[in-house]
Amino acid sequence: MKILALSGSLRAASINSALLRVTRDLAPAAIEVCLFTRLGDLPLYNPDLENAPPAVAQRLREEVASADAMLIASPEYAHGVSGTIKNALDWLVAFEGFADKPVAILNATPRARHADAALRETLITMSATLIEAASITLSLPSANISEAELLAMPEIVSLLTDVLAKIQRTVKRLPDMKPFLGSSLYIDSQHPAIVAQAAKLAEGCADEEAIAKRCFEFVRDEIKHSWDYRLTPVTCKASEVLIHGTGYCYAKSHLLAALLRANAIPAGLCYQRLTLDGNQPPYCLHGLNAVYLVQYGWYRVDARGNKPGVAADFCPPLEKLAFSIVNPLEQDLPDIHAEPLTAVIKALTEHQTVEQVYEHLPDVEETSE
Ligand SMILES: Cc1cc2nc3c(=O)[nH]c(=O)nc-3n(C[C@H](O)[C@H](O)[C@H](O)COP(=O)(O)O)c2cc1C
Repeated sequence: MKILALSGSLRAASINSALLRVTRDLAPAAIEVCLFTRLGDLPLYNPDLENAPPAVAQRLREEVASADAMLIASPEYAHGVSGTIKNALDWLVAFEGFADKPVAILNATPRARHADAALRETLITMSATLIEAASITLSLPSANISEAELLAMPEIVSLLTDVLAKIQRTVKRLPDMKPFLGSSLYIDSQHPAIVAQAAKLAEGCADEEAIAKRCFEFVRDEIKHSWDYRLTPVTCKASEVLIHGTGYCYAKSHLLAALLRANAIPAGLCYQRLTLDGNQPPYCLHGLNAVYLVQYGWYRVDARGNKPGVAADFCPPLEKLAFSIVNPLEQDLPDIHAEPLTAVIKALTEHQTVEQVYEHLPDVEETSE
């Protein structure tokens, strides 16, 4: 696997360039980290040259096209991104080979938040696939540290090794997992509140399974089911659910999917068709999640919130959902969806109160499996 590394600093003793060289030195045999060291040779971007770019811009594009992922480390200058990195990205804006490219960002200056945010905004606008879990801020004692000194810092070595592993995992999964890792209107995993909460939940976790469990328990226990607690507003987008602390089962499943995706863990939406009460109609959909765990594959979890008679849990490979199928017209719908069903979106966006949603809970026709 090839990772193309770009440093946004031209300074000879640049900490950003040093971090990228150290990352290259730490890469295992299966990962080749290539530093593109000619960003300083790029002329200022000129759209007139889009179809006949200068040789160095063409070379950059070829390197981007052949890379499986990119790693960018760049300084903040006067609360903005450096001209070096912005100019390089401008040469890639209209380049097809850049779209959807998985990109991770290293921020070597914790106080430099403007450039980090601006760089993310630019990359998202350019349709890059931001690898949030591998995008980290490093606290370094000074901006003048050599590679040898960085390599002698176990914490930095561990963080950079982890960045490489996370990029590799993301790239390996991308062909079929891409829809289950992306941010969208309702599973808005790149919303700042989701990114921050996802990072908080991942803190101190030993592996992905631990992160997934933490995210599940957070949504199950800390986000109140809107009907159980009769809470407004009616939420639908993952970020709304997080901000208001409430949601119907479907909305809670949007939040759990977003928190998992923000941690680079593939997550989808599943549905059951259940009776509302006892053994007879009416029926309605119930929303839950499937999370992809490397060790077990897809694993269904239900974070609707426990209550007397409902005890869902995260204990893979054992499935412990909130509800079991008890009557012939109830169903476990077989598909794992990357996006919510239209009927669900309709129910959550066309009604203003929890009572109105309850009166119009989404349903689908009975399907033959
Ligand atoms: C002209 C200039 C402007 C800077 N502006 C900021 C700034 O706005 N915010 C900040 O946190 N650091 C700022 N810095 C500090 C750099 O981000 C910091 O020194 C960084 O380590 C430089 O990256 P490098 O070591 O890769 O060259 C500035 C540095 C220079 C030279």
